[in-house]
Amino acid sequence: MSETEGSVCMRNAATRRAGTLARHLVIKDEATGKQVNVKVSEGNTFKASDLKPLGVRSYDPGYTNTAAVKSSISYIDGGKGILRYRGYPIEELAEGASFLDVAHLVLYGELPNQKQSAEWESLIMQNSVIPKGVENAIAALPHNAHPMSALVVGLSSLGSFYPEANPAFAGSGVYKSSIVQDQQIARILGNAPAIAAAAYHLRTGKKLPQPKAGLSYAENFLYMLDSNGDVNYRPNPKLSRALDVLFLLHAEHEMNCSTAACRHLASSGVDVFTSVAGAVGALYGPLHGGANEAVLRMLERIGSVQNIPAFLQGVKDKKEKLFGFGHRVYKNFDPRAKIIRKIVDEVFATTGKDPLIEVAEALQNAALADEYFVKRKLYPNVDFFSGLIYRAMGFPPEFFTCLFAVPRISGWLAHWRESLVDPDTKILRPQQDYQGVWLRHYVPLNKRSSSQSQLFGPVPVTNEKKRQLQGTYTS
Ligand code: SDX
Repeated sequence: MSETEGSVCMRNAATRRAGTLARHLVIKDEATGKQVNVKVSEGNTFKASDLKPLGVRSYDPGYTNTAAVKSSISYIDGGKGILRYRGYPIEELAEGASFLDVAHLVLYGELPNQKQSAEWESLIMQNSVIPKGVENAIAALPHNAHPMSALVVGLSSLGSFYPEANPAFAGSGVYKSSIVQDQQIARILGNAPAIAAAAYHLRTGKKLPQPKAGLSYAENFLYMLDSNGDVNYRPNPKLSRALDVLFLLHAEHEMNCSTAACRHLASSGVDVFTSVAGAVGALYGPLHGGANEAVLRMLERIGSVQNIPAFLQGVKDKKEKLFGFGHRVYKNFDPRAKIIRKIVDEVFATTGKDPLIEVAEALQNAALADEYFVKRKLYPNVDFFSGLIYRAMGFPPEFFTCLFAVPRISGWLAHWRESLVDPDTKILRPQQDYQGVWLRHYVPLNKRSSSQSQLFGPVPVTNEKKRQLQGTYTS
């Protein structure tokens, strides 16, 4: 169908939102009288570069109203609380799919058929043993290193074992081959559970068991955490399934901070291991994936239902943050939070109920009934209840974000793969609006003002350092 400007593009709803309108904006600079016709796409975006003839640029800190890429991987409607992976509603996938099948869907665009599913699982499990050097790199960290920092070390060091897949060694065209892409996807997705398990065992110094063939992705992960190398050990199937569903719920979420970070690094042509390690770094933050750990520490700090009013007052006074609430896109319930809330009950049926659920429920209900949160459209997000499940399953709070990172690797890799073939892909180099000193000239050291205030420190010096500094050196 020929789409004339201004016509309503009623393409098949299966491929795109029906009823979207391609149209034009006329933008006029009142000062100069200059005006530009800016085409608006069916996705309601216009190219910021179309404003260049007016000599203006868009300023959008945090990209609150900027689409940086076109993508087909997942779709979110924040107003309606909708999340679909390649068109499939998250609620339906959570009901019946395995994490690995969903990872295949997110990565390659289709749910695998039975034969493909078996081959895909076998490929990933064939890549589940990590190089000894990666295990040693993690083991070299302090025993109390945060597991997310260990995950960054593991993923960034993993790439060192495959120089033939590193553009820095093999040339920037190395990723043009879909075989090379798929090989790195299998290596990273396959190795992720063992790297996370090595990070988990760092605290105790326990030996990392070898993965066990024949187990599902989440089952094998729990096997490496709990088997102590006993090949006859099998994790509780209800806990394995709960973790598998949590993995698929965390697999992908369009251009969130860590996915954007992955795309940002990948845009420079750096190897995919480093891009994924950078994404782990972005996810680590408490405003992003680190929120599940922050939620639990917040609930523990509140301690009882009686303390909720005082805590919420602290939030309104900007002294506290209600972790697990709020979202850049969802201005309604995060659909994942509703599904996770149900998984809480399923896990508690196996592990026993965590009394903190009462505090969490009462906190949620108090916030949802409070004008401060309602006005700001703050609802529970994916992180609000997940921490309760992870605690009931015996994970330490500092490990919660690793449980987010492992499955999100499939989303990061899907966006990496998509960026390789996107004709719009360019190295990401945002501009700035310069606010600094305009121009001044160099002053030699002996001419500089002695009254200039000290601009750094004082950096605290430990007594150990003081003792060392009080020593002298004999020539
Ligand atoms: C994830 O992007 C994704 O898709 C992420 C994610 C994914 O799957 O990848 O969904 C996973 O990261 C979920 C979010 C987890 N983070 C948290 O739970 C941390 C707590 N939430 C907030 O910090 C906040 O809501 C963000 C960071 C999630 C979103 O922040 P925005 O969109 O930048 O909004 P904002 O900070 O500008 O807040 C707008 C207003 C402000 O109040 P006013 O200045 O207007 O008075 O709402 C307030 C904020 O102070 N606000 C909160 C709040 N979130 C926003 N106030 C208290 N508690 C909060 N949690």
